[in-house]
Amino acid sequence: MDTQSQFETIHDGDLGAPVLDVVQEAVDAASITYARTPGTDVEQTLRAELRSRGVRARSEATVHALADRIRAGGEVSVGHHDGSVGLRDPDTTVAAADLPPGAVRRVGSWAVGNRDGELFAVSRRCRHQLADLSEGTIDADGCLVCPWHQARYDVTNGEMVTGPRGFFGYHGPTPGYTELVRGYARVLRLRVADVVRRGADLVVVRRG
Ligand code: FES
Repeated sequence: MDTQSQFETIHDGDLGAPVLDVVQEAVDAASITYARTPGTDVEQTLRAELRSRGVRARSEATVHALADRIRAGGEVSVGHHDGSVGLRDPDTTVAAADLPPGAVRRVGSWAVGNRDGELFAVSRRCRHQLADLSEGTIDADGCLVCPWHQARYDVTNGEMVTGPRGFFGYHGPTPGYTELVRGYARVLRLRVADVVRRGADLVVVRRG
């Protein structure tokens, strides 16, 4: 699976990214679907993911080979022999070595974290007063804690599970206000993405 010639664009015009990057995105999406729903028809899912991104495999053998590797689990990389795929995109990629357990890092518009080996990505702006959540911390329950007023987020669904303790310059108890913020943050959750390993990198992959 080492040459771009195994894939082609469906329509004329620019894909907006190198073909192999787009293919890798489709492979990641199909891998995630299969991991969540093991009965998934991987070939069909992969074809659909490719098609929705404007590319297709030139042969069914390529689809089957990729699907076999997805079913076998582990990392599935398309592209070069070293497993890299085009240029590293700093808006979606961080070196795995830079994200040890307990760490949270800024990756483009995402706060990406490692809670004891389990990786997560959520949108970076706190639903309260837009603090940068990539500067937050992971607490003992695995929640992401905002650096400004300590609102806590469930990183699996983006929900604020504890409201802020303060506002603007004030830090301290604000019971009614805290619940009010938590109420609207229930509706306005953080966006959540998947994080996949690709070689020595971790890559944020949007859901849906
Ligand atoms: S900005 Fe995050 S809790 Fe206030």
